[in-house]
Parts: sequence; structure tokens; C-alpha cells
Amino acid sequence: MSNEPLLDVRNLTTVLDLAAGTMPVVDDVSFTVGRGETLGIVGESGSGKSMTANSIIQILPKKIGRIAGGKILFDGRDLSQFSDADLTKVRGREIAMILQDPHTSLNPVYTIGNQVIEALRLDDPRQPKRSLLGKAINVLKKMNVADAERRLHAFPHQMSGGMKQRVVGAIAFSSAPKLIIADEPTTALDVTIQLQYLQLLEGIQKNTGAAIIFITHDLGIVANLCHRLAVMYGGRIIESGTVKDVFAAPSHPYTQALLRSVPSIDTKVYRLYAIEGQPPPLTEEIAGCKFASRCPLATDVCRSHRPDPKPGRSGAVSHEASCWHLGETL
Ligand SMILES: Nc1ncnc2c1ncn2[C@@H]1O[C@H](COP(=O)(O)OP(=O)(O)OP(=O)(O)O)[C@@H](O)[C@H]1O
Ligand SMILES: [Mg+2]
Repeated sequence: MSNEPLLDVRNLTTVLDLAAGTMPVVDDVSFTVGRGETLGIVGESGSGKSMTANSIIQILPKKIGRIAGGKILFDGRDLSQFSDADLTKVRGREIAMILQDPHTSLNPVYTIGNQVIEALRLDDPRQPKRSLLGKAINVLKKMNVADAERRLHAFPHQMSGGMKQRVVGAIAFSSAPKLIIADEPTTALDVTIQLQYLQLLEGIQKNTGAAIIFITHDLGIVANLCHRLAVMYGGRIIESGTVKDVFAAPSHPYTQALLRSVPSIDTKVYRLYAIEGQPPPLTEEIAGCKFASRCPLATDVCRSHRPDPKPGRSGAVSHEASCWHLGETL
């Protein structure tokens, strides 16, 4: 197996062409995900987490969304250069997605069995459906879907939210993807079900070796589930590193504020700390640091010049933060 990262996103810029102007929703973002690794992406609402994830498989808002620059190297190929037809072969097979709301991921008019079997057939559409029944039951069982044989005939509305999300997980894992993008997959679930679901994902990931990009507001989930972490603000990654390094030595003032509400890495469930003020509208051109208007440490240079990534406070090679005042504490 090569040492190259599975996914190597370089200087990705994604824009939306709106009546009010061109809005960079992903602004020069670079990160990697290794094979079998879990990367957490955190940041407040509107910071560009979903747009970053959706850019990878190019499911952007129709007509207005486009990749304006950068590379998306996945297993050695640049997905940003792929045609729609080529991307269709990657989506759901090599890269699967689990979305926040299982209602939107499952089709209400087809049975669960139908939808799992369709996912299994992506690998070889010539396979007759009947031959995949056993396999479908197995993937549902792996996701701990109780009474899997009977569930094959059920429609989505006949299942609980937690059970539906397990089916979505089963569909995501059914084609043995190399990468799973999970965009807030547990937000719609209650806390005890969340934990069970996350443990399931982790177990299956260990067995299959799939890498996961986990998008969440929940730093407790990041601490428990992720190896590395990228913190987004205003369409940019402002800090990244191993979860251990970033939690122990948060370096960007925004990350410091986020982590204030998390007393220790063992905390199970915590929501993001509320920071005074609002992020600037993404349509506004900002020459400097996007956090400057809310940052107590900001000086003139922050407002006029964009900070490049620099080594974070942990001193670890992989830990970086983009701030002009890295030596100072909030
Ligand atoms: N279809 C759209 N039309 C216009 N603006 C959009 C559209 N989709 C997203 N945006 C804008 O793009 C920016 C990034 O959105 P994105 O969905 O990536 O945020 P996010 O970090 O995933 O937020 P959340 O935590 O709420 O899911 C936001 O400012 C959002 O308002
Ligand atoms: Mg989102």
C-alpha cells in the first residue's frame, strides 16, 4: 500500500455565482486524509464544511456552484478534472456519503431492500437482484439493523430515525468505499442512539479500512472518533493537526474559543462555545484574516494581510494554524 494520502486536497476554491456576486464558499483549502484515517471537520454554521465535502464529489448547487481552482487528488487521480460521467463511477462506490437527515438519503417510494440492493449493484449492474438478497441482509446486520430479513420489505417511513440512519450507513458501506464522507450524520438522532451509531461506524471502519471525513458541530465526537481535525472559519481552514495536538495546544484564537467549553478530551457531548458577533458575509471581500472582526487579539496586520499556515503551538510537524498572533493567548 502506498504512503500517499488517499485524499489530497490542494488549494481548493469553490464559488457560488449569485446575483449579489461570486461567493467563495471554499477559499483556498488544503488538507489530506490517509487510508483508514478519520478526519474531523468542525466550524460554526456557514463556515463551508458541507461545501468542502460536496466539492470532493462535486454535488454542488446546480448552475451556481463550481470549483474555481485547486486539485482534488483521490487515490492518485484529480477528481476536479473528472467529467460528470466519470464522477458517477466514483460516487457511492469509491466515495460514499452519509448525510445528516436520513429522510433525504432514502427514497420514500422504494423498500429498504430495494435501496440496499441498488447500492450493491453499483459494483456490477448486471447482477440479478435476487442474487444479492443474502448480501443485503448481511450489510444490514453489520449495521445492527434488527430483524434484517423482514426489514428488507419495509419502507423508510415504517422505521425510526435511528434505524433509518443505520440503513443509510449500510448503504454507504455496501460498496466497500475507500472514503466515507459523513456530514453531521448523528444530528437527527438522540444522544444514546448517537453513541451506538458512532461505535458501529468505528467498528465497521476498522474492519473495512475505509477512511472517514466526519463533519460535526460536536467536539466530543471529534475527541472520541477522529484522528485528525481541521477547523474551518469563513470558508478557510484556520487550524489543523492531530486531535491530541489541537486539543492540547489550540493555537488559533478561534480554536481556543471553541475549545473553552470542552474541559477535557474525555468529554462525551459538548456543543460549540458561542463567540460574540457574526462571521462576515462570504460575499464581502476580506484581504486579511476572516476572524479579525471578532478577534480580541486583532491588529492592523490581521485586517490587511491574510495569515499563512504556520507551525502550531504543540510544535508537532502536522499541527498548523493561520494567525498573526500565534504566540498570544485569548
Ligand atoms: N444553495 C445555496 N445558495 C446560496 N448560498 C449557499 C447555498 N448553499 C450554501 N450556501 C452558503 O455557502 C456557505 C457555506 O455553506 P455550508 O453549507 O458549506 O456551511 P456549513 O459549514 O456546512 O454549515 P452548517 O453547519 O450549517 O451545515 C454559507 O454561507 C451558505 O449560506
Ligand atoms: Mg453543513
